[in-house]
Amino acid sequence: MFICSGNICRSPLAQAVFEHLSAEAGLSGEFEIESSGTGAWHVGEQADSRMRKTASAHGVKLNHRSRQLHREDLSDYHLLLTMDHHNHRDTMALARTPEEREKVRLFRDFDPAGTGDVPDPWYGGLDGFEDVWQIVKRTCESLLKNLSSE
Ligand code: 4NP
Repeated sequence: MFICSGNICRSPLAQAVFEHLSAEAGLSGEFEIESSGTGAWHVGEQADSRMRKTASAHGVKLNHRSRQLHREDLSDYHLLLTMDHHNHRDTMALARTPEEREKVRLFRDFDPAGTGDVPDPWYGGLDGFEDVWQIVKRTCESLLKNLSSE
């Protein structure tokens, strides 16, 4: 489960990239891949047009509709990866057990080239969306390697 704030930029991109990479690796069906937002402002909406444009320029199509993270997702999913530390705090607040808390990680814990937050591109220009693409692409590659070796 990939988690951001609005579920219209970063986490739907991570979902689509991870789906794309796992299909390329012949691992479709091995993972239950989803994304959600800690906030409900954009529920039901398609991903932001700037995010869709950037992804499409790299050959990835976004088909997700925004949905909010629910408490049950913490028991239903094995790994919940948050795009930034605000999302991490908000997701942890929904966890009811130590097991659930252990499943919540920062997405960039899997980034081979950096740590911390995936910057929120919402208020910025198109170059911010390209930066998000680069971070999400290499982190999803590393995540897939990591999970498929388990
Ligand atoms: P996301 O970006 O969390 O990557 O989907 C955002 C989208 C919308 C808002 C904030 C972040 N918003 O405040 O509406």
